Amino acid sequence: MVERKSTRILTALPGPKSAVVLAKKAKYVAAPLEAYAPFIIRSSEGAIIEDLDGNRFIDFSGGWGCLAVGQRHERIVAALHDQIDHFLHTDFTAVPYAPLVELAEALCAHTAISGEKKAAFFNSGAEAVENAVKIARAYTKRKSVLVFENAFHGRTLLTMTMTHKAKPYKTGFGPFASDVYRLPYPYEYRKRVTPEEIESTLLSLVDPTEVAVMVVEPVIGEGGFLVPPAWFLPFLRTLADRYGFVLAFDEVQSGIGRTGKFFAFEHFGAEPDLVCVAKSLASGLPLSGVVGRAKVMDAPIPSAIGGTYAGNPLACRAAIEVIRTLDKEKLLDRASHVGDRIKARFERLAKRFDIVGDVRGLGAMVAIELVKDRVSKEPAKEITGKIAQTAMANGAIFPTAGLQGNVLRVLVSFVITDEQIDEGMDILEDAFTDVLAKP
Ligand SMILES: Cc1ncc(COP(=O)(O)O)c(C=O)c1O
Repeated sequence: MVERKSTRILTALPGPKSAVVLAKKAKYVAAPLEAYAPFIIRSSEGAIIEDLDGNRFIDFSGGWGCLAVGQRHERIVAALHDQIDHFLHTDFTAVPYAPLVELAEALCAHTAISGEKKAAFFNSGAEAVENAVKIARAYTKRKSVLVFENAFHGRTLLTMTMTHKAKPYKTGFGPFASDVYRLPYPYEYRKRVTPEEIESTLLSLVDPTEVAVMVVEPVIGEGGFLVPPAWFLPFLRTLADRYGFVLAFDEVQSGIGRTGKFFAFEHFGAEPDLVCVAKSLASGLPLSGVVGRAKVMDAPIPSAIGGTYAGNPLACRAAIEVIRTLDKEKLLDRASHVGDRIKARFERLAKRFDIVGDVRGLGAMVAIELVKDRVSKEPAKEITGKIAQTAMANGAIFPTAGLQGNVLRVLVSFVITDEQIDEGMDILEDAFTDVLAKP
């Protein structure tokens, strides 16, 4: 048994109670729904997870980036209880309700796009991206979609096509959607890209007068936390204006304060026409949205977009409280502080271990890339996995990322305490020492 201030490991993983549920999972839950953690959660508070066997972990994965304000924030819990006591569902397009309207107002107010804005809500990040494409096609009356290397946009037919990584996301799932073209994305550690290269690739792949929309992550998430150079997003704005297509930022992972601003694009001084948002928007309840210029958002004909559960009242109530909590508790500043503190520890790891090739990030969206050696930069995928597993066995959950799976990233709640950050980083540093000591 190892007990620290916030973490506690009482059993090998999985413990006996988790093992019973995991055995049933293997029998009844479809195999592709593979789980990262080898235990079953019982409860959670802030950034701490306790499993069925009483083991306690610091969760740097934050439900893959959905828990900016932490698990079960009291304001959100209270709003949800209140909503349950009134009504659960109508379908907004059958009988409308105020929480969705209030949320649209709050989201528009927090979106740094000039002029009139409107919002629409859906259930998942992928649905938001799909709908951004539909809205852009209706607005431009064009069909083609531009995306980027290393992108992740979801798992539906269109968004899977827009996603870069083939395995596991596309394996066995073709044929894919048509009219999607991929452009180079700057990967400062591995591959510099110039504006000329992006434009000439675009012009070689597609007639720009046929392009409806360019969809881009202002900071790449699943693809390895790639922060583009300062010129990148403003240049994309120039291209959108030059060729008359819609510019849509996919902020599903980078939005809702993750980078220390409400949206990551605010760091770069470039305005999109549409923004896709999900994940931390409703603190784990299924909700996504598209927000953007009113004239673009209004382009599809009435009833052309929507969905039975889209903008569910419980999720909208949670989202209103998420936005209020970010403002009231100054959590955007907190996100920057959390990111700085973790980055300093990553830099310490880089000084101690040659396997660390790159430390990067923006705000709380920080990552460390591991390589077999610093000259060849060959990705160290296996060791990255071993380090993550060792850290988890000792009480700290760190997700991996990147096309080669050799990046450790942080998607932690901003309410994590400094003490918990330090404890988690100590566990991670020990995991580096343990794994690298083995032949
Ligand atoms: C940038 C980005 N877009 C879209 C998605 C898809 O979101 P969802 O899994 O909610 O469909 C994700 C999920 O990780 C994401 O990171």
